[in-house]
Amino acid sequence: MAKKTLADLPDLRGKRVLVRVDFNVPLDALGNVTNDRRIRAALPTIQELLGRGAAVIVMSHLGRPKGNPQKDAPYKMDRVAERLRQLLVRPVHKVDEVVGPPVTAAARNLKPGEVLVLENLRVHPGEQAGDAAFAAQLAGLADAYVNDAFGTCHRCDASMEAVPAAMSNKPRVVGRLVAKELQILDELLSSPRRPFLAILGGAKVSDKIGFIKSLLTRVDRVLIGGAMTYTLMKAQGQNVGNSRVEADKLDDARELLRLGEGKILLPVDHLVVRQLESPDEARVIEGNIPDGWMGVDIGPKTIARYREEIGRAQTVVWNGPLGKYEDKPYSRGTRVIAEALAAAPAVTVVGGGETAEAVESFGLAEKMTHVSTGGGAFLEYVEGTPFPALAQVEDRKTS
Ligand code: 3PG
Ligand code: MG
Repeated sequence: MAKKTLADLPDLRGKRVLVRVDFNVPLDALGNVTNDRRIRAALPTIQELLGRGAAVIVMSHLGRPKGNPQKDAPYKMDRVAERLRQLLVRPVHKVDEVVGPPVTAAARNLKPGEVLVLENLRVHPGEQAGDAAFAAQLAGLADAYVNDAFGTCHRCDASMEAVPAAMSNKPRVVGRLVAKELQILDELLSSPRRPFLAILGGAKVSDKIGFIKSLLTRVDRVLIGGAMTYTLMKAQGQNVGNSRVEADKLDDARELLRLGEGKILLPVDHLVVRQLESPDEARVIEGNIPDGWMGVDIGPKTIARYREEIGRAQTVVWNGPLGKYEDKPYSRGTRVIAEALAAAPAVTVVGGGETAEAVESFGLAEKMTHVSTGGGAFLEYVEGTPFPALAQVEDRKTS
């Protein structure tokens, strides 16, 4: 069902709009923002609202604070607000609370064209508890609600579900980022151009079983890489040496192989090492991996084969790095496949936090059709999990 968007909001001059964003960005040890992609992705929504004469109240979670004031210090939103201020070049105020009198006062004093950033929603226990009284306080701050937090749409935290529920007499719409993510993923799932290829990597099969099953019913081919390769190989009875394996997931792996029969391609060769710390000893092995060695990347024959498949595809969805890409000597498979996607004529959709980071680190994000801001949300949407948060946003009436 299509959701109402910013275009459905009434005259916003002099109104306050509460925008839930996903500014859950990576931070370094000092609390500096190391990747601002999710902040930049929400700018079109915030800019449009400000341009239409609204005052904007921005709320997000950041990390997973534990309710310990000392340990939670890095999770304050000050650096995030600072980055937003730099990017918007507009007045951006920040409050040190999530709700309460200082927040209400700051919201009341906010002028059209100005932004107020609330403190990390998750420092308040009401957020993850989905508490209605907490939600009512947030709901009272504004005249309209915008969900532009695609990366959090699979969560039922108060700001995602209870807040819009408490604003049922006010406009509740999705922002530009959520609208774009939903449009691209809906097209991918409902009417992909074929051949439709999935590239699946990452360390684990276990947290992606539903996602992989869903894709197996939709795509024409699946290319496998990353450490999940070794769990699948082991399930086939192949030798994987010391490679990382999810020994308790072999039954699931067998089921996936059965469901994907004729569609799944496993690597035919592997870059292997004795120890991660000794990349100089790395060699390429075809077939079984001997004892004492572990796989760390897909091999050159596999890369060549996968590139052919990518060249033929009309649609490609990619989730999960193909090797231990964060170590340079083991990053070739992931990088060359990213380059092949960047150069491919196909519609290319990349999702999942690590995969998006990899593509960005190679400088190729702009060359993809779409790089999702969703990690878990991307996987769950493709899997077909309904999102209660989106149910709280108004539907667009179809005539
Ligand atoms: C994410 O990064 O996946 C979202 O921001 C959700 O965060 P969470 O997994 O801590 O709920
Ligand atoms: Mg997460």
